[in-house]
Amino acid sequence: MKKIFLLLGAALCTLSLAAQPKLNKNNIDDVLKAMTLQEKATLLVGSGWGSMVAGSMTASDATLVPGAAGTTRAIPRLGIPQTVLADGPAGIRIEPIRRGDPQTYYATGFPVGTVMASTWNTPLVQELTTAMGEEVKEYGADVLLAPGLDLHRNPLCGRNFEYFSEDPFLTGKMAAAYVNGVQSQGVGVSSKHFAFNDQETNRMENDAVVNPRAAREMYLKGFEIMVKESDPWTIMSSYNKVNGFYAQQSHDLLTTILRDEWGFKGIVMTDWGNKKGTEQAVIAGNDLMEPGMENEIQRIVEGVQKGTIPMADVDRNVRRMLEYIVRTPRFQGYRYSNKPDLKAHGELVRKAAAEGLVLLENDGVLPLKGVKRVALYGVGSYDFIAGGTGSGNVNKAYIRNVADGLRVNGFEVNQGIETWYQQHIALKKTEMANNSTGGFMAMLGSAVVPEMEVSRSYIERMEKATDIAILTISRNAGEGGDRKAVDGDWTLTGAEREMLQNLSDVYHVAGKKVVVVLNVGGVIETASWKQIPDAILLAWTPGQEGGYTVADVLSGASYPSGKLPMTFPVNYFDIPSSFNFPYNYSAGGSGIGFSGIDEETLALFGYAAQKQPNVDETQYKEGIWVGYRYFSTVGKKVSYPFGFGLGYTDFAYSKPVVKVAKDGTVTASIIVTNTGSSIGKESVQLYVTAPDGGLVKPVFELRAFAKTRELKPGESQALTMTVDPYTLASFNEATSAWETAAGAYTAHFGASAADIRATAPFKLAKAQSWPVHRVLLPKEPVSEITVK
Ligand code: BGC
Repeated sequence: MKKIFLLLGAALCTLSLAAQPKLNKNNIDDVLKAMTLQEKATLLVGSGWGSMVAGSMTASDATLVPGAAGTTRAIPRLGIPQTVLADGPAGIRIEPIRRGDPQTYYATGFPVGTVMASTWNTPLVQELTTAMGEEVKEYGADVLLAPGLDLHRNPLCGRNFEYFSEDPFLTGKMAAAYVNGVQSQGVGVSSKHFAFNDQETNRMENDAVVNPRAAREMYLKGFEIMVKESDPWTIMSSYNKVNGFYAQQSHDLLTTILRDEWGFKGIVMTDWGNKKGTEQAVIAGNDLMEPGMENEIQRIVEGVQKGTIPMADVDRNVRRMLEYIVRTPRFQGYRYSNKPDLKAHGELVRKAAAEGLVLLENDGVLPLKGVKRVALYGVGSYDFIAGGTGSGNVNKAYIRNVADGLRVNGFEVNQGIETWYQQHIALKKTEMANNSTGGFMAMLGSAVVPEMEVSRSYIERMEKATDIAILTISRNAGEGGDRKAVDGDWTLTGAEREMLQNLSDVYHVAGKKVVVVLNVGGVIETASWKQIPDAILLAWTPGQEGGYTVADVLSGASYPSGKLPMTFPVNYFDIPSSFNFPYNYSAGGSGIGFSGIDEETLALFGYAAQKQPNVDETQYKEGIWVGYRYFSTVGKKVSYPFGFGLGYTDFAYSKPVVKVAKDGTVTASIIVTNTGSSIGKESVQLYVTAPDGGLVKPVFELRAFAKTRELKPGESQALTMTVDPYTLASFNEATSAWETAAGAYTAHFGASAADIRATAPFKLAKAQSWPVHRVLLPKEPVSEITVK
């Protein structure tokens, strides 16, 4: 009898186990079948603000990775663990200090996206992000919320530093290299913000109104290349609307284009908020709501019960979530060390970032020779900016400043000037801390310390004791707000101008030189002052080793080989999109403080009530005429063209050869020779002019690029670039197809968009077209500017 009971018990046990399969990569269907509706909805919604906002940690969140942006929910009965999602993109962003724990959890501050793009070196970017991926994995996260690949539609977008370029091809190639690097470590990415999150002002509600050609050729192209050339585990849908629909609720965007046309296989998660219309998001193919709220679970459950969400859509999304989960290190029980190799990564960043530094001017003063005593001016020389603010700000253990960098390179930094600056910085920081309201914004990174006034007589005194003057000019920007076309941001302040002029006057009279270092997150105005100093080194915000990298380059221990991934215009209003960008808008409604608040609540505060042009709705009237596509086509003067950057040596281009294979694939090669007297690397850009007729097209467009290895004086290297016919295509709205015309093309081998060193004609025998869905249409076509 006892035996029978035992057998019965065992049988029941097996039965209930069958109904409770434990997830593995081969039983996803069984697990899906075993899930209740409530469980399914649970899996589609993250577990709340969790560890991100101190004070609202739930016990389970806090035990995972403090400071991570979010988590997915666990369902223990089915063996489904929580997984951890952490920002991104300049390294993993987690809390560096844990209560009662003597260990620290700092992460490496890597170069920001713009610096990566300035390297024009995809293998190098992949090397950097491989190291980044190791930190993600060893700190116990599963997904890095990166890369950011919105286009630099306008130079004042507050988050441009996180993004790569004004050009979608460069963007897509950089993003693919980034994703392949991080994911080589067995962790995932969430490529963001998909899509049209091209301004920060009212980013949660702004409606980007854009015609299909501009949408596809410019804003979606980078994502398309990235999806096709890497396998991003996840993509983050943006807060904003596009053509009337929230991106996260757009079936056109998240299913028709992303999955049906491009073949994306991973999950889509929302950017951090809680919008009404969760049902729409589920149907659209937005698999995961982040950071996730209880009411979103409820909306999904009720939606299915009421029949407003098809069960099949829920199942489809849940299946994708399960497929994602089985890939994660947490699911696989990876025992992370909490000890990534920060030292090695710091060394890598110091060296690699030099390739992203862009030398804008140099009368021969750089690399420095015969000088020892440096008069070092500018707050940034002592309080260097490593990266931008907001969720892209990494909690790093230290930031190297220029003063220390110069010292380790054997220079003497004038002590009097240094002490004065240090006192000014300490005082201002105390004032700023006292005036800060703290909280969320403070957590996301601090503002720049304002520059101090330096009198001409002080400069004159210091000149006598020094051999050279270096002035660092700093700007910062970040999430939740756009930059302004005003003094102190886009343009220099009066004090900065005066200091630069005084330094130049005084040092030049004494036969000494002045070098400007630009420690800025994005483009600033340069045309009105660039002739004053003897050299300008654009350092961007190159990561935690920044001051060392800068000094290595100044001293010649290293050399710059970066080139601009965007245009530096003469005037802000030369840029077509400047008329459709929230210029100088400064009222509330920006966004970050409002995460998680719905439209009704916002309206209570008056934010959603007023409809303002470029705030509530932004018409992309410039169409495809962004950056060099516009400036090169209309022949408008710029301060520095797209693709521009000097080095410490010169290069000659010779023997351009272009061949076309039967299938239309173009192979272009060129020989690059170092004709100068120092070592260096050169990035060659292949621009292609399409045949006349048909669609109006830019004078040429970037279709490939390649960088040499380090070349010694006299050394040459042949670079070969291939372009398939699809890459040459333009989007025809009339036929809703990508079209590559037959006929006579020209390949231009450029050192920049304004410095074409060689050209070669080629012919495509047959026209090709690739029809796509007629989707993502604006209610009314945008009336675009006419060019040509
Ligand atoms: C940002 C995202 C970020 C997320 C989580 C959002 O406000 O837009 O880029 O990944 O927060 O921190």
